[in-house]
Amino acid sequence: MSNHLLKGKKGIIFGALNDQSIAWKVAERAHEEGAEFVLTNAPIAMRMGEINGLAEKTGSKVIPADATNTEDLENLVTQSLDILGGKIDFVLHSIGMSPNVRKGKHYTESNYQFYQQTMDVSAMSLHKTLATLYKHDAMNDWGSVLALTYIAAQRIFPDYNDMADAKSLLESIARSFGYHYGIAKKVRVNTISQSPTVTTAGQGIKGFNEFINFSEQMSPLGNATALACADYCISMFSDLTRYVTMQNLFHDGGFSNTGVTQQVIERFGN
Ligand SMILES: NC(=O)c1ccc[n+]([C@@H]2O[C@H](COP(=O)([O-])OP(=O)(O)OC[C@H]3O[C@@H](n4cnc5c(N)ncnc54)[C@H](O)[C@@H]3O)[C@@H](O)[C@H]2O)c1
Repeated sequence: MSNHLLKGKKGIIFGALNDQSIAWKVAERAHEEGAEFVLTNAPIAMRMGEINGLAEKTGSKVIPADATNTEDLENLVTQSLDILGGKIDFVLHSIGMSPNVRKGKHYTESNYQFYQQTMDVSAMSLHKTLATLYKHDAMNDWGSVLALTYIAAQRIFPDYNDMADAKSLLESIARSFGYHYGIAKKVRVNTISQSPTVTTAGQGIKGFNEFINFSEQMSPLGNATALACADYCISMFSDLTRYVTMQNLFHDGGFSNTGVTQQVIERFGN
């Protein structure tokens, strides 16, 4: 269903790996809503080739960029301005990776080189992206930049490991850059804190299946799907949310404000 909410808007979408990816759903919905955009992902993710199908379906160009590499980001931003024929209205940062999680390192025994990579890929990449856009004056006034995050930034979820620290940093960068970009260009910067969702990154977390069931029962509305997250992203890219900035926005069926649900408490009866 299209409401033409992004008619005439131009964007960059990071992180569509396969059709489970949240970024994939955002790209499909943005296309339906009339946006034009460039798709990007790490060169290593391109090898799987799935993004080309999405590009064809949405009439988009693909530009590889490692979001930790400022040269790649410069190239991405300057080429996108060319391809799209003008400044950018929206950017989705949908990137996360922790070598400590991948290699099963316990949080108390983190490998610090891995830890730095987690921070660089999952959080500092947002700063680098924003700084590149800012330097090239690549965003239109009232543009909107969104990054995806998780509630482990505020509360402990043990198996989320060092990704929790990365998400805290990511949310802080959105606030800090949101201030500066707001003053300079009226550009909005926010994070969306999404329910656990079945994707490649999500499934990399130990005990994910049990956890997703727990979260479902702890959320009055149930877990929000990737498609519902995409809908929220569309509203945040649209002109209907122009005064929302520097926020961490929970998109989690009510999980973040729930102490316990009847369904969960009944499991502890005699
Ligand atoms: N799946 C969940 O349960 C969940 C919940 C809350 C938030 N999130 C967040 O949503 C975002 C998207 O994840 P997803 O669940 O769609 O999984 P996904 O695995 O489909 O997406 C993660 C993406 O990050 C990309 N990436 C990794 N390293 C990169 C680099 N150096 N440069 C550029 N891109 C790189 C990957 O190629 C991939 O496309 C992440 O920030 C994730 O933490 C996910």
